[in-house]
Amino acid sequence: MCGIVGYIGEKNVYSILVKGLQRLEYRGYDSAGICIANSGLKVYKKKGKVSELESFVASKDIHGSIGIGHTRWATHGEPNDLNAHPHTSMNGHFVLVHNGIIENYAELKKDLSEKGMVFHTDTDTEVLANLIEYYYQQEEVDSAEMAVRVALTKVVGAYGIVVLCNDEPEKMIAARMGSPLVIGIGQGEYFLASDASPIVEYTDSVIYMNDGDVAILEKNSMLLKTVENSAANFKVTKLDLSIGDLDKGDFEHYMLKEIFEQPKTISDTYRGRINPEKNDIVLGGLIDVWDQITAANRIIIIGCGTSWHAALVAEYLIEEYARVPVEVEYASEFRYRKPIIGKGDVVVAISQSGETADTLAALKMAKEKGALILGICNVVGSSIARETDAGVYTHAGTEIGVASTKAFTAQVTVLTLFAFKLAHKKEKIDQQTYELFIEEMLAIPDKVQSILLGHPKIKEVAEKYSEAINALYLGRGYLFPVALEGALKLKEISYIHAEGYAAGEMKHGPIALVDDNLPVVVVSAQDSYYEKVVSNIQEVKARKGNIIAVVTEEDNGLREMANDLFEIPCSHPAVASLLTVVPLQLFAYYIALMRGCDVDQPRNLAKSVTVE
Ligand code: AGP
Repeated sequence: MCGIVGYIGEKNVYSILVKGLQRLEYRGYDSAGICIANSGLKVYKKKGKVSELESFVASKDIHGSIGIGHTRWATHGEPNDLNAHPHTSMNGHFVLVHNGIIENYAELKKDLSEKGMVFHTDTDTEVLANLIEYYYQQEEVDSAEMAVRVALTKVVGAYGIVVLCNDEPEKMIAARMGSPLVIGIGQGEYFLASDASPIVEYTDSVIYMNDGDVAILEKNSMLLKTVENSAANFKVTKLDLSIGDLDKGDFEHYMLKEIFEQPKTISDTYRGRINPEKNDIVLGGLIDVWDQITAANRIIIIGCGTSWHAALVAEYLIEEYARVPVEVEYASEFRYRKPIIGKGDVVVAISQSGETADTLAALKMAKEKGALILGICNVVGSSIARETDAGVYTHAGTEIGVASTKAFTAQVTVLTLFAFKLAHKKEKIDQQTYELFIEEMLAIPDKVQSILLGHPKIKEVAEKYSEAINALYLGRGYLFPVALEGALKLKEISYIHAEGYAAGEMKHGPIALVDDNLPVVVVSAQDSYYEKVVSNIQEVKARKGNIIAVVTEEDNGLREMANDLFEIPCSHPAVASLLTVVPLQLFAYYIALMRGCDVDQPRNLAKSVTVE
């Protein structure tokens, strides 16, 4: 949430900042702003998207080679020009951009107001700007860097900040606690950003800052220390990202591109982990901890949103095949509900971004209680990935559309491999079943491809329902989480109220919604729940609901009852979620498109939720 970019070097900083902000816009798009150091600190900011900032600065002085920028997802204070970042301290000594939340801002603001400091915005960030300035004025503080460090010791909360000081315009100071910051190292230049996307065009040499780090950057020097003023540990790493990954290519939206990438991202995720010659699954990241995993009393899987849905698929798989008790928890609940966890428990944190604040906090809490912590993340080097004891990366590539699509199927791919491997290790499935599962997984990319080829039909059906006000999504077993995920996709990008339900639960309440205006999407496969689902759908049919059914090619029950069909290839039920979700992603996409919604940047949302 919120994107930060900074540059210090010889290049034209404006174009680096604006391009960077465009790449970071998926993290927040309420307002955007920049500050360029050029005979003073020049701040330009505007409510709305980066394009509005661009029009606003068209006639302004944007020369300079040092600067910072920010794209905001509002927490404190409504999205308007005033609350947009960068924020300037009372006497103009400091300008800063911030990602995160200063939790004790009200207390600090009161204290600073009593000391005579004046505030012009509703933001917690302005409080930090003034706090830095307050310490800068103290006799014992002899530099901007020291003022930043001292101020940060008074702050409770999360931050990634980049600060410019009027008196030291050749310097950029950055600090991290809980909100990510990456330093890009060039020739006589440094870049700073919330993620590597603004940096990759210029250098592949980066440092992921750690919590508690402060970086002092000049054109030709970099000093990394801790807030307490001791030397910080850091590692220079090579980026595994190319500029092409950040392009929409020929697609109208990132979301559509990402849906269509799935045959590749699923196979990229299992490649090197399935050995077809040896009929085996090898999860390299877990090699050292398998003994602990197989000995676990239970597995707790935590995540938020789509990642939580992937966790639910894993619950069905692990309990059915590996016979290990699994609990799936919303990270936001788990972290506060005083759960009973300890040694012998395995906690798996699932996160595309690897930065979700609730998931990160929940795993830290479980870690303190002695559980083994595993991570399934997409973003390499992310905070969650770094906090875990072991883990497996999904290889979905950069996901930019706010609605998660390819990340979900990559997560389910990893979790399915994990469940099969665990079942095999625990001798709960025989070699033949294990090999059958491997074959089924290897067949998924081609089957997804064939579903994608059917997109014109899905678009046609979407047209019929694009004016809907509500929608119900039903599924059972492995396909219940898919129903939840289908409903989430529709509501987040088209703003149609949609609910996902276990089909068997419908008669306990949601059936009251059914009438001839309600689209009811039913997700089915040829599994042990099929007959039950057919009966549930009879109940919808009897009440004149419009049935849109995801069915396999072999279906001969639901297709007779449905108003519209999305056909998918047959598969083993254990991998059916990877197929059934694809038409639902496309259905949501086309409906949102027809309603004129901003598909990649839906209102009120941000890609990486770094606040709780
Ligand atoms: C999915 O479409 C969402 N935008 C959202 O629910 C997301 O899955 C959630 O915020 C978790 O993100 P993470 O996977 O990066 O932790």
